[in-house]
Amino acid sequence: MTTNLLELEDVTASYGHVQVLYGVSLGLEDGGAVGILGANGAGKTTTLRAISGMVGTGGKITFDGESLVGKRPDQVAQLGIAHVPEGRGTLGHLTVKENLLVGAYQRKNRAEIAADIDYCLDLFPNLAMRISGSAAGLSGGEQQMLAVARGIMARPRLLLLDEASLGLAPSTTRELYDAVARLRQEWSLSMLVVEQNANLAFSLVDSATVLETGRSVLSGPKDELMGRDDIRRAYLGS
Ligand SMILES: Nc1ncnc2c1ncn2[C@@H]1O[C@H](COP(=O)(O)OP(=O)(O)O)[C@@H](O)[C@H]1O
Ligand SMILES: [Mg+2]
Repeated sequence: MTTNLLELEDVTASYGHVQVLYGVSLGLEDGGAVGILGANGAGKTTTLRAISGMVGTGGKITFDGESLVGKRPDQVAQLGIAHVPEGRGTLGHLTVKENLLVGAYQRKNRAEIAADIDYCLDLFPNLAMRISGSAAGLSGGEQQMLAVARGIMARPRLLLLDEASLGLAPSTTRELYDAVARLRQEWSLSMLVVEQNANLAFSLVDSATVLETGRSVLSGPKDELMGRDDIRRAYLGS
């Protein structure tokens, strides 16, 4: 029997007194990639926040056999989970290089950190050209690339990626997703991918789960989901 790297079972979440997740369940194998689909407000971002300890949660969330419920965001990060939030969250007053170093703050080995910075710059050549410039001076696409690069500078085992394509030109989006696919291959990085653009999500993931008003209503392998008329109509525009 294989045990999943990440397992969510009947997860609930609330902002103060307002409950927004009522029962989200999903499993992610080590090295796997799972998509989260759903309309605006369905609870996709909150699901990632629940994993990261950024919102009050109930139910079961385990990572590598350890419960994440009740942990603080820094403790979750320390376990090897990198969260690239909706809206990027790069530090505009710092340079590109400083942002990358912030991502590696828990690491000690300078040679390994330097090698991973080189890797990030190879993955995102745009960032190499702007390494000493302030993050605030980057284009939207470059900021998203920096947000992913900063996340992987922690050498995580799991990447949480929230709406990475939002507001980006198609060519930039493709570049970004190609880089993420490369990370999946070269680092065996596991990932949970929230994406409005389901065609894009399906280019990366093996399976997906669909959320409706805070509940998982359907999950399965991507071929099965893509073969369903209702899913195609709702999320794939055909
Ligand atoms: N900080 C917050 N405080 C209160 N309600 C929130 C907050 N953030 C999101 N919500 C509500 O929670 C629900 C789920 O939101 P969200 O997880 O952001 O959905 P999605 O990412 O799928 O668009 C929505 O009804 C939204 O209005
Ligand atoms: Mg969202």
